[in-house]
Amino acid sequence: MSGDAAPTRADASSPLPAPVPAGSRTPPPFAEPGPVRPHGGRLIQRLLPADEAALEAGRAVELRALPLDARGVSDVEMIATGAMSPLVGFLGRRDYDAVLQTMHLGPAYGGVVWSLPVVLPAELDVARGLRDGEDVALVAPDGPMAILTVEEIFVRDLEREARAVYGTTDPSHPGVATTLAQPKAAVAGPIRVLRLPVPDFPELHLSPLQTRQAMAERGWRTMAGFQTRNPVHRAHEYIQKCALEIVDGLLLHPLVGQTKSDDVPAPTRIRSYEVLFQNYYPQDRVLLAVFPAAMRYAGPREAVFHALCRKNYGCTHFIVGRDHAGVGGFYGAFDAQRLVVEHAAEIGITPLPFENAFFCRRCDGMATIKTCPHPEADRVSLSGTAVREMLRRGETPPPEYSRPEVGRLLAEAMRGRTE
Ligand code: ADX
Repeated sequence: MSGDAAPTRADASSPLPAPVPAGSRTPPPFAEPGPVRPHGGRLIQRLLPADEAALEAGRAVELRALPLDARGVSDVEMIATGAMSPLVGFLGRRDYDAVLQTMHLGPAYGGVVWSLPVVLPAELDVARGLRDGEDVALVAPDGPMAILTVEEIFVRDLEREARAVYGTTDPSHPGVATTLAQPKAAVAGPIRVLRLPVPDFPELHLSPLQTRQAMAERGWRTMAGFQTRNPVHRAHEYIQKCALEIVDGLLLHPLVGQTKSDDVPAPTRIRSYEVLFQNYYPQDRVLLAVFPAAMRYAGPREAVFHALCRKNYGCTHFIVGRDHAGVGGFYGAFDAQRLVVEHAAEIGITPLPFENAFFCRRCDGMATIKTCPHPEADRVSLSGTAVREMLRRGETPPPEYSRPEVGRLLAEAMRGRTE
């Protein structure tokens, strides 16, 4: 992959980002395949070409280092591949404030809609020692990953950030807890990426560009994105297949970045998707690939973020069901889809909102209140917590909840787990 004439925030006063390549060479401009333009107009590429990356990796060991945690590693990858287009690095104060207050980026990014503050937290004393314009190495647990040119250091008000992003400062919310535990300073600036993390699921790892190419090769004019952080159950399958009735293809896009410790581990979730995909889906109409983002559990704001990123991967449609990216009882069941629908035009994707789906014994099939007239008592509804407890006991969930192949796989993988 080569460096790109990616916009950068070099001139913060200009209404449009100035074109500056990720590497020192600017490749000929290319138009990304696919019917939808990436967010901000161009697919950002911040991964350096291999020869430049090798040179820069040599230099990186001489630079001051900032550590990347699991979320930071995911963010660097997402910026590198353009999954977070138009971001070219970690946000500075102006964009950060704009995102918190207005759910839009600042003028240097054209003021486009953007819902999550993508920041690089750093300890205050370390951040204070950095100079504007200095190159610092961003170091993952397994070594340097990127070089950031410092544009700005600023101090975040973590409670204000939590309230804006999560709608609460309650530390029992996992996203709030993570935010409040972070160092307060943030180091902002564009990044040049030396390497991507070693993928856990290499055969399922497709960049936005590769996903757009796969869509074009299949001749799909429309593609619905499906985000998930859970093992697949029949309600997922139902809403995916309802979507498939109206679009050409489906991008099954399970998130594989960091999740909270009691979520089912990614390898098990991915296996559940592979089993379902092989047994119950038309192979030529579905693309299974992983989404490397970390989970924030920010409900409505994260649903907007998920939709924006899936547009960058080429999706024309995005599925938002019940309590998307929610946790506990922090959000209303349809808050997330409401926010996506309200902002659909500026997100640039067609939302596919779904009611709560369930198995109805009288209908003898999956349904929602839009299609089923029967009372609650006829419906099989199991909470995620109840299912996790069954799985830990080694019990297979009922076939109305999970396909038997998936249920068996989950029960085997989760038996005896304590988290
Ligand atoms: S999420 O945190 O990644 O959103 P999950 O994997 O549970 O969680 O959900 C994936 C998608 O399916 C989301 O859009 C969610 O709203 C939707 N969804 C999950 N369960 C149901 C259900 N029973 N009815 C309708 N939509 C659902």
